[in-house]
Amino acid sequence: MNTQEGVYILGIESSCDDTSAAVLKDGVLLSNVTASQAVHEAYGGVVPELASRAHQQNVVPVVDQAIKKAGITKEQLTAVAFTRGPGLMGSLLVGVSFAKGFARSLGIPLIDVNHLQGHVMAHFIREPELSGGSKEAVQTTPPNGTPPNLGGEKIPPLPFLCLLVSGGNSQIVKVNAYNDMEVLGQTIDDAAGEAIDKCSKVMGLGYPGGPIIDKLARQGNPKAFKFAEPNIPDLDYSFSGLKTSFLYSLQKWVKDDPDFIEKHKEDIAASLEWTIVDILMKKLKKAVKQTGIKHVAVAGGVSANNGLRNAFHDAAKRYGWTIYIPKFSYTTDNAAMIGIVGYYKYLDKEFCPIDVPAFSKVTFK
Ligand code: KG4
Repeated sequence: MNTQEGVYILGIESSCDDTSAAVLKDGVLLSNVTASQAVHEAYGGVVPELASRAHQQNVVPVVDQAIKKAGITKEQLTAVAFTRGPGLMGSLLVGVSFAKGFARSLGIPLIDVNHLQGHVMAHFIREPELSGGSKEAVQTTPPNGTPPNLGGEKIPPLPFLCLLVSGGNSQIVKVNAYNDMEVLGQTIDDAAGEAIDKCSKVMGLGYPGGPIIDKLARQGNPKAFKFAEPNIPDLDYSFSGLKTSFLYSLQKWVKDDPDFIEKHKEDIAASLEWTIVDILMKKLKKAVKQTGIKHVAVAGGVSANNGLRNAFHDAAKRYGWTIYIPKFSYTTDNAAMIGIVGYYKYLDKEFCPIDVPAFSKVTFK
């Protein structure tokens, strides 16, 4: 193990359809390499068996490239952090098994990371140029698990609220520390990203639907059509009713005019996006009121959405929130976010045994 020259963490992410590897030195990102899998586009969704096969092909070259781009050798690595779950089991097993073998062959510690914790912690990724233009950063031991703010970039103070919205999750999380996250509310059925992807499929658009809907929505009228919004208690979400309402509306319109979707795709996309953002923001505003916490972050693949980003900026102006919006490269699945959690766990000496299993479903530990 090499600790004299700094702490070098290799992060590995393989929970769904992105094979990603990143190297961080003392919590500062040196490289972040991701191989996305185009193979699923033809099927309109991720095919688990194809995803694990692609991970198997990609993992070695992606890790190799991440280490080379970081300008180090594998012998300089201090520890290997990997996504343990939740995610697709076949995909996870590739990253988990690779991480175990790699760490064991180098004789360095292994660190398991919760994928959702990674998304939230994407706000703590520091880049060399944001850390004073130097790859050198000062290492600080986190007091009570609190991540050190070394870079001077906009990092949320603890506690803060995080709206975590991805293809598999929609949650409002209260972040007390990097290793202490409370789920205040979550979807009782589908995730926001999943709803967007399914609606995009109904419209005959490609996969993943999120970026396509986002692009179309910018040219459409968000008030052109109305879709059902859920009415469920507390801070929980539901998107299955919206999906059904969207499907039935489109079926009815297409029956009357077979070209309806093509003629109105921008307005349909804008109205769908408006409805999803409205559902997400209503509960988030409620969470801010209930907790009194006005530092609010957004994370996960859907945080790339322009409508949602605009809604955050509006809320900042209207309600005095301080908002934290991740760089586009850290919204969808990436290994940098796994590496930053790995770094904090390394400082706390939170290692895992070699026989640790992957998990597909659990949310926060
Ligand atoms: O976080 P992520 O990469 O994977 C999961 O962990 O689930 O999120 C993927 C989800 C997909 O549903 C995708 O359609 C959505 O994020 N997404 C977007 C945008 N970019 C990706 N949704 C709306 N607008 C976008 N620009």
